[in-house]
Amino acid sequence: MTAFHLHNKTILVTGASSGIGRQVAISICEMGGNVVITGRSEERLKETFSLLKSGNNKSIQAELLDDEEVQSLVTQLPLLDGIVNCAGTVNPYPIKFLSGKKIDEVFNINYKVQVVLTAQATRAKKLNKGASVVFLSSISAQHPHRGGALYAGSKAAIEAFSKVVALEFFHLQIRSNCIAPAMVKTPMYDKAEAQGTKEQMDAHISKYPLGAGTPEDVANAAIFLLSDASKWITGTTITLDGGFLLGGL
Ligand SMILES: NC(=O)c1ccc[n+]([C@@H]2O[C@H](COP(=O)([O-])OP(=O)(O)OC[C@H]3O[C@@H](n4cnc5c(N)ncnc54)[C@H](OP(=O)(O)O)[C@@H]3O)[C@@H](O)[C@H]2O)c1
Repeated sequence: MTAFHLHNKTILVTGASSGIGRQVAISICEMGGNVVITGRSEERLKETFSLLKSGNNKSIQAELLDDEEVQSLVTQLPLLDGIVNCAGTVNPYPIKFLSGKKIDEVFNINYKVQVVLTAQATRAKKLNKGASVVFLSSISAQHPHRGGALYAGSKAAIEAFSKVVALEFFHLQIRSNCIAPAMVKTPMYDKAEAQGTKEQMDAHISKYPLGAGTPEDVANAAIFLLSDASKWITGTTITLDGGFLLGGL
């Protein structure tokens, strides 16, 4: 049988009420897995749940910035074969406008939440032997853009954290990897576009030989990292950029 399936695997997906997280949850179910989905918006979480192929799935609404809600989420979790950490935000600020409050705003959701969730899930022994943890980084971690001090910094931090997770859980064959996409068409893309102009975004995307990414492109990479097909891969980052970083256009 192919190693790429997710039969008998149960995966927690954060940020499942929107964009990449929603598609990751849908794709996991299509590949035979079960999911626990979480997000803040009850309504959009329900929408995601209605799109899942039937299985032993569960939906738990949670504000991940609230440690008690994270604790309650972890308590309700079944034993897991993986986590895909998709909750995140993009808030570009030029350096002269940065403050401690803004650092918290970006780092808390892009870094602290993932660290606290990983800590609590491992402490509560919710990850099965051989589980796979996936974090959503961004090409910005290695190729920052103007205004991206906090976003790029938080993604570089999550890439470093992912490597430490890989190191600390070798003994359980638990793997940890990142996916670093360039621009992917989700509500976050729309938000980024609204922060500039459509013309600016179009000019940026014109430098992608394979066009902008789709949530399915990212979900397919997550499926690979969750499946036994990637059982020899840990502590690394898969870049998904449609050829952008080659700089040919
Ligand atoms: N889209 C891109 O171009 C792109 C590129 C590179 C990397 N990424 C990364 O990919 C990940 C997913 O991005 P996306 O495009 O799918 O974004 P999105 O559509 O804006 O979705 C973000 C998700 O994060 C959840 N979230 C935000 N704050 C939360 C909180 N405090 N507690 C719980 N959940 C929270 C949101 O929940 P609610 O909606 O329910 O509030 C939503 O489900 C992010 O880490 C992002 O940085 C995206």
